[in-house]
Amino acid sequence: RQPAQSPLFGILQAASDFYGNALHAHPARQTAVQYLGKRGISKDIAGDFLLGYAPPGWDNLLRELGGDSLKEKYLLEAGLLAENPDSGRRYDRFRDRIIFPIRDSRGRVIGFGGRVLGDDKPKYLNSPETPVFHKGQELYGLYEARQHNRQLQDILVVEGYMDVIALAQQGLRNAVATLGTATTPEHIKRLLRIVPTITFCFDGDNAGRKAAWRALEATLEHMKDGISARFLFLPDGLDPDDLVRNEGAEAFRARISSQSQSLSDYFFRHLSEELDLDSLEGKAHLATLASPLIGKIPGHNLQQLMERQLLQLTGLGISQPRPVSAPASQPE
Ligand code: CTP
Ligand code: MN
Ligand code: MN
Ligand code: MN
Ligand code: MN
Repeated sequence: RQPAQSPLFGILQAASDFYGNALHAHPARQTAVQYLGKRGISKDIAGDFLLGYAPPGWDNLLRELGGDSLKEKYLLEAGLLAENPDSGRRYDRFRDRIIFPIRDSRGRVIGFGGRVLGDDKPKYLNSPETPVFHKGQELYGLYEARQHNRQLQDILVVEGYMDVIALAQQGLRNAVATLGTATTPEHIKRLLRIVPTITFCFDGDNAGRKAAWRALEATLEHMKDGISARFLFLPDGLDPDDLVRNEGAEAFRARISSQSQSLSDYFFRHLSEELDLDSLEGKAHLATLASPLIGKIPGHNLQQLMERQLLQLTGLGISQPRPVSAPASQPE
């Protein structure tokens, strides 16, 4: 998945240092410092997450780290430079943005996210896929969470960089983010090697609710008996960052323990949402939707219990579908 050695690690680390130093010393840093202050981020947390600032201008990083053609080639391969397809001119990908370095499980910087300071678009810019950065596998904040607590018991999966950081700021140091992509089975596999309990907590909007169902689908094939996956849905229009800053860590923890749903509860509730389970048609539809998904669950006990739940709701088990071919005993 990721090379053990690559010249890109060195240039990525140097870039992270450059952005980190700029947040402390660049003449234009004030707006960035103020922005982080406005969002409630302390120096301590900014340091833990190596937050930085890419100053305005097209070639700050290029001039600092470019040097010779080999270094420039690495900068390009690492996704730190972009190239104009017509002129071939190379320029800094991240400009006038707050920088979120993304680290792998060994703590090496493998990519970056960058946020605008105002309302410009796109709000976030991320490193492209590179030989060392694969979005579908990495989880932002996982290295930092493990650094903080070597005996993590549970992990909270959220959508965004700022969710992870705001939660950490309030003392919830076990959040990771999926970097703007859907949760993948690889994400789940990685997490379940570390903890037996995952709680998904996405934004209280349509995109967040969609992301939750995608996460459930990615989790099903890893639901061994003994694993717990829970889903916490947030009030409309709010994300974990908004909420934890409004209500504090204790209230947020209370939400997780009292309002989150188990995977099986969410499963049946979601699939039944638009169905009339008083009608045979609704029951048939639910069984059609649920059966193949329940079939993916590797935990025998959980699978049986969900099968039984389906049976209670519909009167149907997930028994083999009837053969579609015509019966063989038809007279000639
Ligand atoms: N994202 C992205 N590119 C975008 C928008 C979002 O990569 N143009 C990713 C980022 O990782 C972002 C996450 O999706 O953190 C969640 O997006 P969103 O909820 O829109 O952003 P927030 O994290 O809530 O941003 P903020 O609070 O800073 O406004
Ligand atoms: Mn710390
Ligand atoms: Mn969102
Ligand atoms: Mn959000
Ligand atoms: Mn937000």
